[in-house]
Amino acid sequence: MKTTALSKLGQRTQTPPISWLMKLALDHPHLISLAAGFTDNPSLPVEETRALLNEILGSPRSRRAALQARNVRDARRPVPVAANEIYSPERMLITSGSQQLLYMLTECLCDSGDIVLVEDPTYFVYLGIVQSHDFRCRGIRLAPDGIDLSHLEQTLEALRRRGELKRVKMLYLVSYSQNPTGLTTSFAKKAGALAMLKRFERAAGHRIYLLEDAAYRELRFAGDDVASALALEGADERVIYTGTYSKPFATGVRVGFGILPEPLLKVVLRVKANHDFGTSNLLQQLLCRALASCRYERHLPELQRRYARKAATMTRAMREHFPAEVRWREPNGGLYVWARCPKPLQSGVNSRLFRSALKHDVLYVPGELCYANDPTRRKPNNEMRISFGSATEADIRTGIARLGATLHELL
Ligand SMILES: Cc1ncc(COP(=O)(O)O)c(C=O)c1O
Repeated sequence: MKTTALSKLGQRTQTPPISWLMKLALDHPHLISLAAGFTDNPSLPVEETRALLNEILGSPRSRRAALQARNVRDARRPVPVAANEIYSPERMLITSGSQQLLYMLTECLCDSGDIVLVEDPTYFVYLGIVQSHDFRCRGIRLAPDGIDLSHLEQTLEALRRRGELKRVKMLYLVSYSQNPTGLTTSFAKKAGALAMLKRFERAAGHRIYLLEDAAYRELRFAGDDVASALALEGADERVIYTGTYSKPFATGVRVGFGILPEPLLKVVLRVKANHDFGTSNLLQQLLCRALASCRYERHLPELQRRYARKAATMTRAMREHFPAEVRWREPNGGLYVWARCPKPLQSGVNSRLFRSALKHDVLYVPGELCYANDPTRRKPNNEMRISFGSATEADIRTGIARLGATLHELL
């Protein structure tokens, strides 16, 4: 055939790296995967879910309603945000995982060639959305308390000078125990970022949204909660907040949510109706009851304790087995440790380290996958995302010992 029936998007969309990382795990039966962002298996709320589904399907009042479709607009539920983060339930939307919302939002805001500002590094699955749509990214340097505001300013200023500010639609921040670095953005940084976006709006000719992805907010096991950007002045017009029940409840349930500025919400709702008529009503009923009965809230502390223990097991093993030149920060939540190897040692997909780790039957996410294709930035190639989410504590210890042995061989 000379041509293809596939659209440009169909042709551009690549296999997400996580899919081939998972395939590698299947192809190596003895492999310990510290790559997947899956959650802890034993702590999945099996009994709670069974009891809640029994309640829903046992009650003559709720069982038929739960199995019937609902209007996409009906999908509004109380969501876990802090008390000072005011939002009207009218601005809320439930989606099939927060991934669906990230996809729809980006699609609703961007056309081919438009620019999304992202943290450098960022959640790599989000980069797949950007790549397949032919959107562009500018990476903003990360400091321990969130993006470097002076770099954000320089980037916006450079885009303004090139006449490209009108292509900039939003800044995407994974603000709590970030995937992949584990860093949490301070409230001051959120305030600074929002003020900066506002300052450049006039030259852009439209709003530049702040998209706050709070996927890991409830997996914090140390330190205090930081208020979200929803608590900032002007947030109702500019801040998009996305959250998920996947990480704190069950990844298999696939329910996420968002709080959106009203005009944007209208558009996303229309797109969502075209996508799927609305998120599974049964699963929404399940989560609604889990929240109302406080089963959800009671489940969280145990989950946080487990992740705290697993994170400590991982970093203890890293101290024991990794060469001293490899650096990382203790995570305060989430599922990941971000480790940096000394410069000459590369960690990328084609590196000796990655191949050798595979031979030692251990898998990590090469850090380079988490950097956007930004022509103005160089992609570091000496970092690894290592997850303590789904592996058992015994596997974490063995996996880190194997990775440590690999690192010692190559350094
Ligand atoms: C930062 C971040 N945002 C969003 C998601 C999507 O989560 P879900 O679609 O399960 O809600 C993930 C999943 O790993 C993530 O790491």
